[in-house]
Amino acid sequence: MISRFRFNISCYESFKNFFKLFIFKKNEIFEKKLKVEISKIYQDSNLFFFDHGRTAFYEILSQIKQKTKKRKVLVNSFTLFEIINVIIYCGFTPVFIDTKKKSFQTEIDLAKFNNDLSGIAAILITHLNGANLNIINLKKQINEHNQSNEKIYLIEDCAVALGAKINEKDVGTFGDYSFLSFNIMKNLTSYTGGALIDCKKEIISLSRQHYKIPNKMEILKKILFIFTIQLLNTRILFPFFFIIIKYAHKYSVNFFLKKYRTDFVVTKEIKFPDKFSYFMHPFQKKLLLIQFNDFKKKQLSRICKSEYYFTHLKKIKNFYFPQNEFNEKNIFLDFPIICDTLPTKEKLFNYLIEKKVDIKSYYYKNCAEESVYIPNNNLCSNSSEIAKNILMLPVHEGINEIHQNKIISEVENFFKDFY
Ligand SMILES: Cc1ncc(COP(=O)(O)O)c(C=O)c1O
Repeated sequence: MISRFRFNISCYESFKNFFKLFIFKKNEIFEKKLKVEISKIYQDSNLFFFDHGRTAFYEILSQIKQKTKKRKVLVNSFTLFEIINVIIYCGFTPVFIDTKKKSFQTEIDLAKFNNDLSGIAAILITHLNGANLNIINLKKQINEHNQSNEKIYLIEDCAVALGAKINEKDVGTFGDYSFLSFNIMKNLTSYTGGALIDCKKEIISLSRQHYKIPNKMEILKKILFIFTIQLLNTRILFPFFFIIIKYAHKYSVNFFLKKYRTDFVVTKEIKFPDKFSYFMHPFQKKLLLIQFNDFKKKQLSRICKSEYYFTHLKKIKNFYFPQNEFNEKNIFLDFPIICDTLPTKEKLFNYLIEKKVDIKSYYYKNCAEESVYIPNNNLCSNSSEIAKNILMLPVHEGINEIHQNKIISEVENFFKDFY
């Protein structure tokens, strides 16, 4: 049996990083090389590296806040709730936009906003595990609007879409600003990390002078934490760890599940938490640089595995597939399937756990219906359906055809009994 977790830095590498960090000395060459690699994607945009993607987003909004008095930000309702928090911490009001039915794509149409357009400072387009094609039309509409009105800024959230392209143009190069995340779940990772891409080269100085650089001890703690998770997910320990997971699910041991699962409670603090106000440490930049070597090869492998699931599962009438194109438009950190109803999803999830198949529920929410953000303009029923009924099948490096066949056959068995 295999864990749904396998990160782009292996357990053994984490072990080595522990020691490498001690002897690490800052070297400008790594930084330059990393900028060269990222510039291959984002051309000659300005780059700023932070310890989190959300910090990059916070800085983007802080920059925009200095330039306009408008305070609304249009944002996908189906996203990481911390992104909505950042909008609020920065003094803006989120306006939730639904996804299209059975899709990760949005359909923001400025024509529908009529007189409300004047309050919109920015639109954040989330590229969910691939390109959000809405960006093409939206960019045209924003350009037209901006010719004779106060500017609306276009921001792209590429946290889970690094490498996705639309007609050979990389996502993250369409808007004014975009940001990336390099947290441990991502296709390039520095344990935690993020980058701000300033496409129009407008940022002269950062608005928060007090971003700090983490010290080695802080990086060490991150490595140690991830290393512990990695150890629990190794082939030897995982079968034992899985027994705990299984019983925690069965008997709803929430204090444990809250630590292990990422889809729990939405919370909000009063201001942007200080623990996120950090730049990236140079050691983390070095880690990122190394991963560019096989970045494309790994991406291709995840696309192939996703297509394999799709080919075998598309006959199941209780599923639909928000990502069913297997090309450069999609990134596939996992392969998403959406069940027709919540009971189907829950029964299938529990059945698979029972059969020792470890799969993910998703950590994105339909933020529009979270009580901390209510009242709001729109409850976003399509996002609600997706958020409730989604499951993610693993496509990471450790998954081979035997694992995939086991998952597929268990899913098929479930539906045999189901009818
Ligand atoms: C869509 C999306 N946006 C933003 C972020 C924030 O990235 P970070 O965790 O690096 O702050 C994430 C992280 O998972 C994400 O999935």
